[in-house]
Amino acid sequence: MSDDSGRLLFAFTITESARTGQPWADQVWRPSDAPVAVVCETALAAFPGWRLSTADTGLVAGLTASGATERRHAHTMTHPLSDLPGLRRPDGVGIEQLTRATLADIAADLGAIYLAAYPPGHPDPADGDAAALAAQLRAIGRGDLLGPFMDVSQVAWAHGALAGACLVVDRTGRPPNAGPWVIDVFRDPGAPAGVGSALMAAALHTAAAQAMPAISLTVSHGNLRARGVYERLGFLDVLEEWTLVLPQP
Ligand SMILES: CC(C)(COP(=O)(O)OP(=O)(O)OC[C@H]1O[C@@H](n2cnc3c(N)ncnc32)[C@H](O)[C@@H]1OP(=O)(O)O)[C@@H](O)C(=O)NCCC(=O)NCCS
Repeated sequence: MSDDSGRLLFAFTITESARTGQPWADQVWRPSDAPVAVVCETALAAFPGWRLSTADTGLVAGLTASGATERRHAHTMTHPLSDLPGLRRPDGVGIEQLTRATLADIAADLGAIYLAAYPPGHPDPADGDAAALAAQLRAIGRGDLLGPFMDVSQVAWAHGALAGACLVVDRTGRPPNAGPWVIDVFRDPGAPAGVGSALMAAALHTAAAQAMPAISLTVSHGNLRARGVYERLGFLDVLEEWTLVLPQP
């Protein structure tokens, strides 16, 4: 996006929300000589009601002062698949690779676990009931959200009962902003602590065995528990970003 004299104001990628279809100006980047006020005014006029993501804190402040609301404050993290974590598992826990066929079979039970793992008060509380969440998990299995489902994905069982899953898809592009991507990882709150870490460690080992370049993910700033888990597993924090919803005129 340039001004009338051809001076670059900002660069961006047009996309849409994988879950809602809402239009999205992603990875908005402003050259340091482009005035924040002009960039804000131009973006607000160009993208009414859109989502906009940026790592530019000046832009976040300017857009927020003009009525934009924060949708998410998140970190992109990536694991280079060197220096892999150990494969220790809590007692009674089994982990295996998850295929899209198995995901379709267990989606109903996994939807209920998802609902319990993301209760009200979680930084990203579940949106919908167990049936809606199961439908979303089936859509992930079909490759309808973000990209094709990868059998790097893992499922956990604790004393014979389904205990959680790590779901990996192939986002078109290269790491750390794309490539093999953990679209979700969660465990039953009643399952032993450490199941989530064990699921992630198994996914990292499987990806490394398949010579993948990296595994990346996005985690909300306020999800301190998950961020701590990822750091301990060796993920690197590569980008802090805000997603705003711009006002309608
Ligand atoms: C993230 C998750 C998969 C990790 O599972 P896990 O490896 O079994 O880890 P735990 O849930 O036991 O939590 C790990 C650590 O966080 C700590 N913790 C708990 N609540 C915390 C909080 N609010 N802030 C910081 N740390 C917290 C625990 O004490 C534990 O520390 P320890 O390992 O030193 O004892 C699991 O917590 C989960 O399902 N969370 C809900 C879904 C979610 O947020 N998924 C991540 C999406 S990006």
